[in-house]
Amino acid sequence: MEPYRIKTVEPIRVTTRAQRETALRAAGYNVFLLHADDVMIDLLTDSGTGALSAAQWAAMMNGDESYAGGRSFYRFRDAVHDLTRYEHIIPTHQGRAAERILFQTLLQPGDLVVNNIHFDTTRANIEFVGAEARDVVIREARVPSLSHPFKGNVDLEQLERVLRDEGERVAMVMVTITNNSGGGQPVSMENLRGVRALCDRYGKRFFLDACRFAENAWFIREREAGFGEKSPKEIAREMFALADGCLMSAKKDGLANIGGFLAMNDAALAERCRGLLILTEGFPTYGGLAGYDLEAIAQGLQEVVDVEYLRHRIGSIARLATQLTMAGVPIVQPPGGHAVYIDAGALVPHIDRAEFPGLAVANALYIESGVRASEIGSLMFGSAAQLELVRLAIPRRLYTESHLDYVANAVIHVAAEAAQLSGYRITYAPQFLRHFSARFEPCSAGFPACV
Ligand code: F0G
Repeated sequence: MEPYRIKTVEPIRVTTRAQRETALRAAGYNVFLLHADDVMIDLLTDSGTGALSAAQWAAMMNGDESYAGGRSFYRFRDAVHDLTRYEHIIPTHQGRAAERILFQTLLQPGDLVVNNIHFDTTRANIEFVGAEARDVVIREARVPSLSHPFKGNVDLEQLERVLRDEGERVAMVMVTITNNSGGGQPVSMENLRGVRALCDRYGKRFFLDACRFAENAWFIREREAGFGEKSPKEIAREMFALADGCLMSAKKDGLANIGGFLAMNDAALAERCRGLLILTEGFPTYGGLAGYDLEAIAQGLQEVVDVEYLRHRIGSIARLATQLTMAGVPIVQPPGGHAVYIDAGALVPHIDRAEFPGLAVANALYIESGVRASEIGSLMFGSAAQLELVRLAIPRRLYTESHLDYVANAVIHVAAEAAQLSGYRITYAPQFLRHFSARFEPCSAGFPACV
């Protein structure tokens, strides 16, 4: 059961299939262009979409909106320091702002950053300064059906090869916990220790992309020998202690609707980052956030490491994944910490990659049920796509088990009719990040084919 009860409710507008067909057509068959009021259960992202606790709302009323030196900053700083033990803590308005500030401060054109798998904004911010982002995740991560307890792990041999061959070009090593772009998969403590040892040997800086650190800590507790008796907070501290700093989007495991931070031990680097922060985000004691946002994050970071919260969070995603697997729906195995990924490539093999199998499944799911999910495949990555996935990202504390049962039934229903689904062709696409605003038309006149 959910280890919390509901104090405030927000109605869901229940729509009919005909209404959803009209809404999706008007949105050019792109769920990003839907009015969110036309969505019944929104699994587009787990970022900034969670429910706040009573304690967070109470703390927010106590927010100090002083321009400089506000009380809320110190509470935020102390909460981040208590968790990470890093000396220098720099608030930003969200994760990608932390990325931009770090990379524009640290990187030169031609530099190389190595990561298990860079998240899209991380990669884009590295490439924006003319540097290269290279992924060195273990081979198992690329095979959806293959189970592995720590499918987010770095391939240490590959990392060492890059460190040896690329030498001075490598500006820093990063590890994303959990590995979002690889399915929300965790990284083991042993693997983080291995990365630390290599960074020491080659004299490289090591940062965590920590936005789902608590979920990663939970998997370590459950799956790695020697951690079963430790608290998630102790495990998180151990992870942070292995790195020199972190980037964080507090919209995930900060349990906040907005916010992020940079944290590190290098005083000189922090000073340079603060310089850029003032230029584009704000004074170092608010970094583009309201005082009440800093309060929400400070409180959220304490709540997110709660054993009962994490047990339910990871358990409910595993339960959804089990329901789908039992019904024969192909998903990325094992399920990750924040999402279940449907393997659309396996579900609708008759749809050519050029006609976007993931879009076909996501759109059928919306029409069937009002559940909004996102394509992660050929539409998002073009010819670079390795897999055709549909992500069901679960916001934190927002939906009940009953909502997730509804989702499972809807996915199972769509899967049963998968052979009848048809693909899409693009009628409009912008130059960059086309998945957000492209428009489509169905390839078959019989659309929508799912019953
Ligand atoms: N790093 C990772 C691993 C992420 O998943 C995200 C965001 C970011 C950085 C950037 O953080 O959104 O606060 O600027 N992921 C969201 C998602 C958008 O839907 O997976 P942000």
